[in-house]
Amino acid sequence: MNRPYTFINVAMTADGKIDTFERKGSAISSRQDKQRVDELRASADGILVGGKTLLDEQPKLTVKSEALREGRILRGLSPNPIKVGVATVADIPLESDFIKTGNARVVIFTTSQTSISQIEILRAHGVEVFVHDAPRVDLNKMMLTLKKIGVDHLMVEGGGTMNFELMRLGLVDELMIYVAPMIFGGANAPTLADGLGLMRSDAIALKLQTIEPHEDGGILLRYKL
Ligand SMILES: NC(=O)c1ccc[n+]([C@@H]2O[C@H](COP(=O)([O-])OP(=O)(O)OC[C@H]3O[C@@H](n4cnc5c(N)ncnc54)[C@H](OP(=O)(O)O)[C@@H]3O)[C@@H](O)[C@H]2O)c1
Repeated sequence: MNRPYTFINVAMTADGKIDTFERKGSAISSRQDKQRVDELRASADGILVGGKTLLDEQPKLTVKSEALREGRILRGLSPNPIKVGVATVADIPLESDFIKTGNARVVIFTTSQTSISQIEILRAHGVEVFVHDAPRVDLNKMMLTLKKIGVDHLMVEGGGTMNFELMRLGLVDELMIYVAPMIFGGANAPTLADGLGLMRSDAIALKLQTIEPHEDGGILLRYKL
């Protein structure tokens, strides 16, 4: 395969929301699920987030457990996977956790709508920036680049727009959903897959692999696409 094996991991409520209408990055995972997500991160070569998640929340995207980071080092890897951000306009502050926290390579895919000065600033701070001359980042092209720079296993951590677009383009192999026993509601709260949506005839088919109940009443679902 000339692109990374790609899996989406998402935490959602029983009504399919991945955040509240406030879009402030609500906690949804249980303690047990956070541990699983950390292990998943430690197994990946890269962790990708979409522009809104990146710019609004500035996630750290690091492996939290020291033992898991040490395990990576023993396997000849860097302590943390490569952080991958996708933003049409990459106005990411240099002091953001996404850029500065943890010992990790940081890669940004952006468009020529990001100013040349901003691209130079990011590069001067060690960020690898790939610029696509298109209205939005070309996700097919991005996948080829990720594979070339050493990402064989890519973990996607949202948000809903990025998840949808990657699945729509057939760039996702696996989907893991932690369904928390709660409801957020809200017609405008983000869901697992947002974007423009599909006609019924174009629905993305999933093949259920496993169902795992968690002790807090949540369920972990694993699907292949
Ligand atoms: N519970 C969870 O597991 C979880 C995980 C992550 C995020 N979240 C939540 O998700 C919400 C954010 O999701 P979101 O849907 O608003 O945004 P998102 O998916 O994080 O980011 C999407 C943005 O990426 C940029 N982009 C550039 N090229 C693109 C392309 N080819 N295709 C798609 N997007 C492209 C676009 O910016 P432009 O619009 O500027 O073009 C787009 O709006 C937040 O509330 C966050 O808390 C939840």
